[in-house]
Amino acid sequence: MPVKNRFAELLPDITAWRRDFHENPEILFEVHRTAGIVAQKLRAFGCDEVVEGIGRTGVVGVIKGRATGSGKVIGLRADMDALPIHEATGAPHASKVPGAMHACGHDGHTAMLLGAAQYLAETRNFDGTVVVIFQPAEEGGGGGRFMCEDGLMERWGIQEVYGMHNWPGMPVGSFAIRPGAFFAGTDQFRILVEGLGGHAAKPHETVDTTVVAAHLVTALQTIASRNHDPVKNLVVSVTSFRTESEAFNVIPQHVELRGTVRTMDPETRNMAEQRIKEIAAGIGATFGAKAEVDWRPGYPVMVNSEEQTAFAAEVAAKVAGDCADAPLVMGGEDFAYMLEERPGAYILVGNGDTAMVHHPAYDFDDNAIPAGCSWWAEIVEQRMPA
Ligand code: NI
Repeated sequence: MPVKNRFAELLPDITAWRRDFHENPEILFEVHRTAGIVAQKLRAFGCDEVVEGIGRTGVVGVIKGRATGSGKVIGLRADMDALPIHEATGAPHASKVPGAMHACGHDGHTAMLLGAAQYLAETRNFDGTVVVIFQPAEEGGGGGRFMCEDGLMERWGIQEVYGMHNWPGMPVGSFAIRPGAFFAGTDQFRILVEGLGGHAAKPHETVDTTVVAAHLVTALQTIASRNHDPVKNLVVSVTSFRTESEAFNVIPQHVELRGTVRTMDPETRNMAEQRIKEIAAGIGATFGAKAEVDWRPGYPVMVNSEEQTAFAAEVAAKVAGDCADAPLVMGGEDFAYMLEERPGAYILVGNGDTAMVHHPAYDFDDNAIPAGCSWWAEIVEQRMPA
């Protein structure tokens, strides 16, 4: 069962939609034009229900199969937002918006899921219900979380969810996946050190925040090296060290540290958070200063469910002839929130030998469309056979 013929017929349309999205990129939750086009097309395809404004600017479409007696409901998710990057592809369909571009291929993801929705609404060759999910603000805004908080899973009774991302460096239209932890949890921390500022020539009359913060930076290195199993993945990086003074002769009252934590499992993430707080409190107390941690949770670890991943790989192998084992990715992905609520799987589809995502020379390869659309359609038809 290779690529579906219908998607070869639809390819010029889907490519035109993709290039239109590419020319008109929108950032985070401000995807009003894109979401409007998505909703209008879903209605034109004859979806049974189309709802806008889920998770602020997300769109949901419902397609019922020829039969629905199985009671099964599958969610298929794409992301719609672009990045604050100035495009340098020189492509005829390059961004018309200075400082914004689809540098992560979400234009391709949206177009491919629209193509699959058109096919599924035409054929309805399944027993169950498909919910197509178009989310805003994948790039750091947590749009997926906002859609979940709006009751996405409960409102439509979604039982399983699937997601897809294009991936440069893999042959166009090929697939790769892995079960378990796949994309990293990405958290941020800020530590505010408060001491007693004063004259740099009278350190004995101060509590020197610079010295306290320097000890903190060093001690934080021991979380990855001494508290954590060395065969597992953990990054703790201090990325900013700022005092409130730029003078040569002042001991500042405050120093602020900032950093990021990258983990592949919730236990490690919780351990890192706890150790950062303990170390800050301990070092602060040692020197008579206060060191308060402001922990800012980012995207959770994205974990693929075993059963759905095996199924997704099987479908991919039928579409493309093979499905490779994907490596761990230390970047974040907010489909993680949907996978925390329901079992499911996230797969990579090859974008060929292009610039990496988030690079100004990156562009989605339209030749991946037939494979991507076929994978969506086969997930539905095989998981909920008519
Ligand atoms: Ni992306």
